[in-house]
Amino acid sequence: MPITVTSPLLPDLEGFHYMLQKIWDSKWITNNGSFHKQLEAALCEYLKVPYISLFTNGTLPLLTALQALRITGEVITTPYSFVATTHSIWWNGCRPVFVDIDPATGNMDPDKIEAAITPKTTAIMPVHVYGKPCDTKRIKAIADKYGLKVIYDAAHAFGVEVDGESILKAGDMSTLSFHATKVYNTVEGGALVMHDAETKKRIDYLKNFGFAGETEVVGPGINSKMDEIRAAYGLLNLKQVDAAIEARHQVAIAYRKALRNVEGITFFDDMPGVKHNYSYFPIFIDSDKYGMTRDELYEKLKAKGVFGRRYFYPLISTFSTYRGLPSASPENLPNANRMAESVICLPMHHILSNDGVELVLNEIVK
Ligand SMILES: Cc1ncc(COP(=O)(O)O)c(C=O)c1O
Repeated sequence: MPITVTSPLLPDLEGFHYMLQKIWDSKWITNNGSFHKQLEAALCEYLKVPYISLFTNGTLPLLTALQALRITGEVITTPYSFVATTHSIWWNGCRPVFVDIDPATGNMDPDKIEAAITPKTTAIMPVHVYGKPCDTKRIKAIADKYGLKVIYDAAHAFGVEVDGESILKAGDMSTLSFHATKVYNTVEGGALVMHDAETKKRIDYLKNFGFAGETEVVGPGINSKMDEIRAAYGLLNLKQVDAAIEARHQVAIAYRKALRNVEGITFFDDMPGVKHNYSYFPIFIDSDKYGMTRDELYEKLKAKGVFGRRYFYPLISTFSTYRGLPSASPENLPNANRMAESVICLPMHHILSNDGVELVLNEIVK
């Protein structure tokens, strides 16, 4: 049996049949139906946020947030992310400006932000990489000083809290991905989190072609509405997400225990005051000390049926679309390049058995 890097959290099939029957009976299958409304309310409660707007994936909320905040010019971001982060900036006709990461967290280094600000800078788009919270206080102080907007790509940060507060409350808006590979999924899906009713109203217009009523269109909107079937699926998954996160936590404990003293392998520990979601378990290989390169270990694991993922590799700034940007030069991004060259995300999901964990570890611990 292969050990996959992830496994989707699937709702109980009988429960899902019951929900489907309700949808069939109502004949309301999309456009802000009953399950859509219920899921928005349930997510607000679970995530401890006042307003949320559901989307069909985690990329469209990024695009829409930039539109809604009328971001232009340059947007400061991190190259150590999934391509959707930078693509959303590009699709809005803005120029991404890459800032290096802090190797201690994998997140954008706040110490490097100010040097990247120019008169054209209008926003910062940091990512809570692997669900590890950015230094939101420092980023806010910089944004306030220069009058910049902050949009957090919180695709990995479902349910993450700092000192009992949702990380999604930081910045002007935060986006989530509910893709099948995420801690919480609606097959494909996502959301935008905002702080006030007016903004929620605008976002709801924008995700429905800009319609503000039957005949009125108030902006250049898009179609990114979540349908009733996925909303129903999402309601069921929400009931089991806490148990799934706890199961992931146990896997993280086992990995850390076994890997702590392995020469040449490092990983992240929990951060004080943070409620983590254990969405990924990245390890970083120092080939001189470990005696094998990252890619050799990755291939060795694969040959044994253990499918890790080099996430994030290659670095966004090395893709042909972006490598011509001045901020994409490797000299500007030494930490991000190093991390991308050394990372493997180990299998991490809610049904990874003890035997599975042992098998993974047996191949790594010599
Ligand atoms: C950091 C980050 N941003 C954005 C996205 C895009 O989300 P989606 O795949 O739901 O469109 C992902 C998805 O993998 C991601 O990891």
